[in-house]
Amino acid sequence: MRTALVTGTSSGIGLHTAVGLAVAGFHVIATVRDPSRSDALLAAAHDAGVEVEVVALDVTDAARSAEVVQQAGAIDVLVNNAGRGSVATLEQLTDEDLPAQLDVNLIAVARLTRLVLPGMRERGAGRIVTVTSVGGAVGQPFADAYCAAKFAVEGLMQSLAPVVAPFGVQVSVVEPAAVASAFVENVERPAAGEGGPYGALLDAYLARTAGAFAAAQSPAEAAGTVIEAAITDAPRFRWQTSATAVAFAGRSLADLDGSRVLEVTRSWLV
Ligand SMILES: NC(=O)c1ccc[n+]([C@@H]2O[C@H](COP(=O)([O-])OP(=O)(O)OC[C@H]3O[C@@H](n4cnc5c(N)ncnc54)[C@H](OP(=O)(O)O)[C@@H]3O)[C@@H](O)[C@H]2O)c1
Repeated sequence: MRTALVTGTSSGIGLHTAVGLAVAGFHVIATVRDPSRSDALLAAAHDAGVEVEVVALDVTDAARSAEVVQQAGAIDVLVNNAGRGSVATLEQLTDEDLPAQLDVNLIAVARLTRLVLPGMRERGAGRIVTVTSVGGAVGQPFADAYCAAKFAVEGLMQSLAPVVAPFGVQVSVVEPAAVASAFVENVERPAAGEGGPYGALLDAYLARTAGAFAAAQSPAEAAGTVIEAAITDAPRFRWQTSATAVAFAGRSLADLDGSRVLEVTRSWLV
């Protein structure tokens, strides 16, 4: 039986990816930061008639990451899903905020990928799927630290992809737009009306974001794309999880002079 290790499976896209890969026939090592918060995952697995192996892993813990990979044995698919958002413009970020975003959304992903690569390379097969974001292709207001981390992880994965492909390892990034998960409530942000000199811009942005999330896709649907990236016979580097994500990321990816993106993001602030 093939093994998949999925990070951040207590909720949202990671939970549905873990269960979906188990349904697809994988032995799933479903890692969670806090095992006491695995009830939703275990209930979803039970409802789907499958089992997942729940393993404690805070992805920012280097020693624990090494231990989990070593104990897992052969890993055929790694899904780097764990992530966290941040809403603040650069002047509102402290010295700690940016490294904290990079730590979970970039450094931890790089570390875990580096840990699984030797086994995949030696076996001549493997998939590394990283859930990034349309924020990995399009810089957005008040997402400075988050987009910096998601752009960085996309650059890392795009650089890695051609180098490990000759060893049979396929590297992909999956870019959701708005997904109705716990993500938004977990985001640290200044309260409405507390944006200082950026207050009016922030309030406009938060109002606009609330509208986007009212039409968000479900975590299960977004996970469907992650699962497809993990198991397809026709792997590709970049995936979007919805038509909204295709349209939005497409602006930036075809935006040679940068004007297409600014045309959209400026309009969010008026
Ligand atoms: N929701 C969106 O609109 C959206 C859009 C684009 C991209 N994404 C990306 O999609 C991925 C999944 O997010 P989601 O929407 O499913 O949100 P979510 O429900 O909040 O899930 C995030 C998961 O990451 C875990 N996590 C956070 N920090 C961690 C750490 N240090 N170690 C281990 N696990 C950690 C969380 O665990 P805890 O429960 O312990 O906090 C949770 O299980 C993220 O990478 C996110 O950036 C989301």
